[in-house]
Amino acid sequence: MSMEYSDKYLHLGEPVDPEAYVICKYKIVTDLDMKQAAAAIATEQSTGTWTGVSTLNDDIFERYHGRVTAIEGDVATIAYPEEDFSLDIGGVPQILSVIAGNLFGLEGLKGVRLEDVDFPKSMLREFKGPKFGIPGMREALKRPAKPLVGTIVKPKIGLPPSGYADYIYESGMGGLTNSKDDETLSNQRFCPLEDRVVAIAEAIDRVKQETGHIMMHAINVSTNGERIVEVGERAQELGASELMVDVITCGFAAVQALAEDPSIKLPIHVHRTMHGAITRNKDHGVSMRVFSKPVRMCGGDALHVGTFGVGKMKGSPKEDLANQDACIDPKMPYKPVMPVASGGMHPALIEPLVKITGTNIQIQAGGGVAGHPRGVRGGALAMVQAVDAAFEGIPFSEYAQTHKELREAIAKWG
Ligand code: 3PG
Ligand code: 3PG
Ligand code: MG
Repeated sequence: MSMEYSDKYLHLGEPVDPEAYVICKYKIVTDLDMKQAAAAIATEQSTGTWTGVSTLNDDIFERYHGRVTAIEGDVATIAYPEEDFSLDIGGVPQILSVIAGNLFGLEGLKGVRLEDVDFPKSMLREFKGPKFGIPGMREALKRPAKPLVGTIVKPKIGLPPSGYADYIYESGMGGLTNSKDDETLSNQRFCPLEDRVVAIAEAIDRVKQETGHIMMHAINVSTNGERIVEVGERAQELGASELMVDVITCGFAAVQALAEDPSIKLPIHVHRTMHGAITRNKDHGVSMRVFSKPVRMCGGDALHVGTFGVGKMKGSPKEDLANQDACIDPKMPYKPVMPVASGGMHPALIEPLVKITGTNIQIQAGGGVAGHPRGVRGGALAMVQAVDAAFEGIPFSEYAQTHKELREAIAKWG
């Protein structure tokens, strides 16, 4: 490796004050000595570069250099001084440039994965967190304890606003509490956003008038940075009950812009499309747990955390529980974020899922609702029955005997 690293970045075994440093854990794949590899990261991400520079004096180094404080197997802990960060101008984009920036491209390292991060309370306090989160969403939906249960309108593209609204009406009549746009739906000609918002609001009102049931639908307002608040406001004005942002493609700052704009008074559903490009490789990238933290800091109210090894997307119970924990951890000075399990879910998977997640979860199915033999309403009923059974702790085999929609769902997919 042509980089020059100094042992000065190594502080192995020294105590580190969690109130004065941002503390990161990196898994490193390298042929180098781990100390040298970890020092390379601390150097590049703080005061150094590939060679010594005459302009780095002792004062600057002492104050701002990243410290490698522990190496356990292939995991290095690096602590960055709180002063290395700039929250007023900079925010989460700047934080990520430090803790998850150039290091991934260093030629000398074969792979690096940022597994976890912890921030000093003084930094966390600069963010507001969710306006609604779990308590706010439960209150709005008048659903104090059971898991939220929802759908993603399918097909993911192609339905016109009227067909879309029919889907939502049927979902609501079946008892679903939530629905959402898919991540690729925006303002295409076949389903303009404004017409869709109006049609959905009418469908949700109709369900409420006919049955008293309350439902929320997240409109995907993901767009260019300078327009997202305007699009969110317009959707709200036309009757949207929730907004959705694709956080990896739009950026964390987009979530924060919506959450902190005083005119936006709706919960924000945070989708993570594209995260797999970054989170999936166990030897390189960033863990979803790390991404969950800035989503919460920035004010996301609900976040896709995976399907705990039971749905269609890659993930394991252990990993997804770590994501769920980041959403609800009471040590963070914010409301908890509603964790969302979505992707390949269907009624028969809810029994094993809830055993892993407990009840603080929003469970959603697209195909698992619209693919039901009785159509959307039958699929919605089956999902609701499955959640009720899991909540009551009644085995599905027993509950299905008296609930035909659940029985049919298990026969098709179970
Ligand atoms: C989707 O929205 O298409 C799925 O939720 C994707 O699943 P993921 O959240 O596990 O990526
Ligand atoms: C989502 O956006 O969460 C997904 O599209 C889930 O779709 P599926 O339930 O059909 O996999
Ligand atoms: Mg989707």
